[in-house]
Order: sequence, then structure tokens, then C-alpha cells
Amino acid sequence: MAQKKSKIRKSSPKVLIHKTAIIEDGVVIGEGSKIWHFSQVRKNTKIGKNCVIGKSVFIDFDSEIGDNVKIQNHALVYHKAIISDGVFIGPNVCFTNDKIPRAINPDGSIKSANDWHVSVINIGQGASIGGHSVILPGVSIGEFALAGSGSVITKDIPSFALVYGNPARIHGFVCRCGKKIKEFHESDEVIVGKCECGLNIPVDRETYKNLQGGEPKRRIWLR
Ligand SMILES: CC(C)(COP(=O)(O)OP(=O)(O)OC[C@H]1O[C@@H](n2cnc3c(N)ncnc32)[C@H](O)[C@@H]1OP(=O)(O)O)[C@@H](O)C(=O)NCCC(=O)NCCS
Ligand SMILES: [Zn+2]
Repeated sequence: MAQKKSKIRKSSPKVLIHKTAIIEDGVVIGEGSKIWHFSQVRKNTKIGKNCVIGKSVFIDFDSEIGDNVKIQNHALVYHKAIISDGVFIGPNVCFTNDKIPRAINPDGSIKSANDWHVSVINIGQGASIGGHSVILPGVSIGEFALAGSGSVITKDIPSFALVYGNPARIHGFVCRCGKKIKEFHESDEVIVGKCECGLNIPVDRETYKNLQGGEPKRRIWLR
């Protein structure tokens, strides 16, 4: 019986890259990471250990991706993204990089690679971005923040904030485990959210104050 040809190409014993994936020059991929069908990782990108890059994902050049990151199918991670350890990027999420995009100059000539004004998108450790969200250029997303599916993230998000909508608004705080925090303890120094899982979560005072009295119905702008 003819042996089935493997569809897996391995760049090292501990890295799995599907045969159809395109990995450009200078890319570094940490042990235990997997890159699935038709994904493209552009030059000089660094991917940490134990990451899962799903199907048809695009990761632009010079991107920095930490350990234990999951990037789901069809996500578009444009230059320049800095993604910390443990981040979850949902399916079809789109990072944007040019706030005022144009294909041509005022005289009709085509723009060159030097005509783009790109800015960095930073995603903090453990944060999650729901499926089909769009992240505007220059936005920073705090640690363990959670953006609901379809969020249009136009401004910075504090750590542990729960946001969703278009434009994304803060609707509360979430724990490291992802559950919404229902109980808060306030002192002069700190505000701590008590998750039902037992963890204590420090929350941003200004955001917390703005949520009081109307949460979760009252919506506040992101900073
Ligand atoms: C944001 C999220 C965590 C909120 O969960 P939740 O706190 O349990 O929220 P609820 O389901 O109780 O909904 C509360 C309200 O928010 C609205 N809502 C919930 N998620 C929303 C979203 N993503 N966008 C807009 N509105 C949303 C609900 O319609 C509801 O509105 P109402 O009070 O007017 O009825 C969740 O809905 C979500 O989007 N998760 C991400 C899923 C995802 O993309 N996973 C990716 C891998 S498959
Ligand atoms: Zn918890």
C-alpha cells in the first residue's frame, strides 16, 4: 500500500509548520509552536514558544509574538504588532496600521512603501480579542482585558477591562480566568475585584469610578 505523503513540514523537531504555510526569511519560531494551513509569516517576525497560529493567518514583518499565544483562523496581524505572552486573537480579527489609508497621492501617483504612516498596536499579557474585532492603529490593550466579538477598538483599553461594541466601550472588569467580576473592595490605596474563582484583581480607579452607579448599562468611553 502506498504511504500517505505527510502534509507537515517541520523546521525543527519541536516546531510544526503545515506544508502550505509560508514562512519568510529571518522568522524565529519557538519550540512547541504550530503554524497551520495557508498561513503566512512575514520576514523577521518572532514567534514564541507553544503558540498556535491557525489557518490562513497573516502576520506582517517584524511582528513580536510572545509565548503561549493563540491566533485563530483568518486573523490579519499587520505591521507593527507587539503581542505579549498568553494572548488570544479570535478568528477574523483585523489589526490596522494606517489611520488615514490611501492607495494614491493627491496627484494620482501610487503610494510607495515609504508613504505609509504606521503605528504600533500593543496587546498586553493574557488579553483576549473576540472574533471579527478590528483594532485601530496605535491602540494599546492592557493585560487580561477582554474585547467581545465584533468590537471596533478605537482607544486604549485598561488592564482587566471588559469592552465590546462599535466603538468599543468599557462594560466592566474581568478576572484572569475570564469571568466578569461582580464584587469590588475599595480602600484609599487600591480597588480590588474579587472573582468568584478566588482571585483578587487590581482595577483601574478612574475606570472603576466611571462605572459606578450605572454599570453595566451606563457606557463609558475608553481613554
Ligand atoms: C463580550 C462577552 C464576553 C460578554 O459576555 P457577557 O458578559 O456574558 O454578556 P451577556 O451575554 O450577558 O450580554 C450583556 C449585554 O451585552 C450585549 N453583548 C454581549 N456581547 C456583545 C458583543 N460582543 N458586542 C455587542 N454587544 C454585546 C448583549 O446583547 C447584552 O445586551 P442587553 O443587555 O442589551 O441585552 C461575550 O458576549 C463575547 O463577545 N465573547 C467573545 C466571543 C468570541 O469572539 N470568541 C472568540 C473565539 S470563538
Ligand atoms: Zn476568576
